[in-house]
Amino acid sequence: MIKQNTFSSRDELDLAFAKQIAQQLCDAISLKGYASIAFSGGSTPKGLFTHLSNMTLDWSKVTITLVDDRWVDTDSQDSNDRLLRENLLKNNAVKARFFSLKQAEQLTTDYLNTLNKQAQQFMPLDVVILGMGEDGHTASIFPCSEQVEQGLDATNAPCLMKTVPTTAPYERVTFNFSALIKAAHLYLHVVGDAKQQVLQTALANDNAIEMPIRAFLHHQDKTCEIFWAE
Ligand code: 6PG
Repeated sequence: MIKQNTFSSRDELDLAFAKQIAQQLCDAISLKGYASIAFSGGSTPKGLFTHLSNMTLDWSKVTITLVDDRWVDTDSQDSNDRLLRENLLKNNAVKARFFSLKQAEQLTTDYLNTLNKQAQQFMPLDVVILGMGEDGHTASIFPCSEQVEQGLDATNAPCLMKTVPTTAPYERVTFNFSALIKAAHLYLHVVGDAKQQVLQTALANDNAIEMPIRAFLHHQDKTCEIFWAE
């Protein structure tokens, strides 16, 4: 299921989105004493990060993580870890706890087992913000990768896995569908006409192997709230 929100500008979207997310984090903290949120990387969310970093809430009770990251040094320009540290973990949000997906040099099975155990302390996530590539990938669940079925497997117990896309660089660590769909609040953040066309294609049928974002958009029980501006 989806709910669509359209904005006349990207900055209007980013501010409204930041306010809504901040309120949901506050609600989770009031209810449980803590909150957790996972962001996508890429170019889309930078403006959202800046607005969110200035929101007033008890950031010390918030765990921030990523839906996925590229397996690169965390000082690489292509690191989502770096993107978050430079654009979100500042201002008021500097007090948040950041759970990096890149905590080792080697992406080994043992590392993933340890990361999965550590992630349990803040799962299920309160808020998940998905992005979408023009191939319909989301997080690092890519239609081109050999791991696409595993990534979309609703019964897949471990929440974090390795994927190797063939149409994008780097090995990746990504939360899988079974972990992300359990979020209390699920969002898709896309901007521009090209992504709107991809979104319409994704909404046209539910073949998720072809376009993994469809697994979230066409889910029977979970609402994926879309934030879009030109
Ligand atoms: C990543 C993201 C990925 C991203 C989409 C859209 O690591 O690249 O997590 O899923 O959200 O590729 O990226 P843009 O925002 O750059 O279009």
